Amino acid sequence: MDKFLIDGPCRVKGKVLISGSKNASLPILAATLLFDQPVIIKNLPRVRDINTMFNLIKSLGSKVILSKDKKTAKIINSKNMKTFASYSLVKTMRGSILVLGPLVAKYFKSKTSLPGGCLIGARPVNYHLEALKKLGMNYEIKDGYIIAKSKGRLDGKIIKFPKISVGATENSIIAGCIAKGTTILKNCAIEPEIKDLSNFLNSAGAKIKWSGRTCTIKGVNSLNQTEYSVMPDRIEAGTFCVAATLARGNLEIQNLNPKIIKTELNLLKKVGAKIRIEKNKIFIKGPDKIKSIKNINTKAFPGIPTDLQAQLMVLMCKAVGKSSITESIFENRFMHVAELQRLGAKIKIKNNRATIEGNTKFIGAELMSSDLRASVALVLAAIVSHGKSYINRIYHLDRGYEMIENKLKKIGVKIKRLK
Ligand code: EPZ
Repeated sequence: MDKFLIDGPCRVKGKVLISGSKNASLPILAATLLFDQPVIIKNLPRVRDINTMFNLIKSLGSKVILSKDKKTAKIINSKNMKTFASYSLVKTMRGSILVLGPLVAKYFKSKTSLPGGCLIGARPVNYHLEALKKLGMNYEIKDGYIIAKSKGRLDGKIIKFPKISVGATENSIIAGCIAKGTTILKNCAIEPEIKDLSNFLNSAGAKIKWSGRTCTIKGVNSLNQTEYSVMPDRIEAGTFCVAATLARGNLEIQNLNPKIIKTELNLLKKVGAKIRIEKNKIFIKGPDKIKSIKNINTKAFPGIPTDLQAQLMVLMCKAVGKSSITESIFENRFMHVAELQRLGAKIKIKNNRATIEGNTKFIGAELMSSDLRASVALVLAAIVSHGKSYINRIYHLDRGYEMIENKLKKIGVKIKRLK
């Protein structure tokens, strides 16, 4: 298994081009199952999770033609698509549950594996199932699979989500697009990736309208051919902005509308970063002294994203003074803490709140990645550690960060991938 060797401490300086968003690409690729016409998706990130989704839709009968640079996919569904999403594919990527909505909406049946949990939590899908059930999907759970069917086209309904859920909102929007009548979804997640999914579907003739956390979808009979470019990855952008703040860096983040990470940038300004924004660029300079933030609390958009929590924890380790981070979205998303403690961090955990001492001098060490975002937090910590750090199991990183070592090398990080 590949590992990274990082020789720290390094400062970061230069330009970073943000890749397409993994978490916008996955629901958009799942939604292509609704199409009878070929559909072209551009600006896809070249990361493992996207390949997994390609393999999943190919296993269902879609043809996926990739451009030379692998950032554009032309997807052509066959006349006799399958509706079986196997555990072997779904277990490697939880986002696979997003094929359930389109398969039932389009083919009135599906046997989709339950995704199973992952290191950050049990990851149940009850909100997905309850919403699709209200639209007319009947299902039973058998041998770890969701055996679903509907008596013909789904029926638009008014659905209020009991809790904000990105995936359940996405599955319901996709299914609602070709349901009969109007579907009104309340208490929706409103992450930018969900708006990107809506924009993609509307570009193909869907009728999706937003008002706050309410999404209204007028069902259509079918979707037209379209060509759509996926939004940039705001978590990748946020990660590099944390890197600049952490390592007294000076970065130009290109290819992202700064508005979608306004909350994160305001937090980094409070920490001491100097930030200047232009239409599609962010110039960020890290401070000599990193100010601590009493309590950082992860929330659904537009709050501080849980996917940036681990990265912000590394930043607070280097801050002057005490801070705390509360993880309100997932029940077990502190896997990175034990690894940071091995680098010298002084962090205490009580339930879902971590208290961080600050003023940490990180000393390089052997480290183990656990989930995608925890892994990138270890990379950030290694960048500001004294000496060599080895980060193992970086396949977690490859799931969601496109060629991260190339991007880091370009801004001055001494990093090598060891096979
Ligand atoms: C999406 O996961 C993202 N994944 C996650 O990013 C992200 O952390 C998360 O949203 C929150 O923003 C993709 O977009 C592919 P949720 P999702 O449904 O949809 C509970 C990454 O690193 N819940 O908003 O699974 C759930 O357990 C990944 O890119 C239920 O209880 O998140 C969690 O505690 C990690 N029942 C909370 O709700 C359900 O049916 C929020 O989950 C669904 C969710």
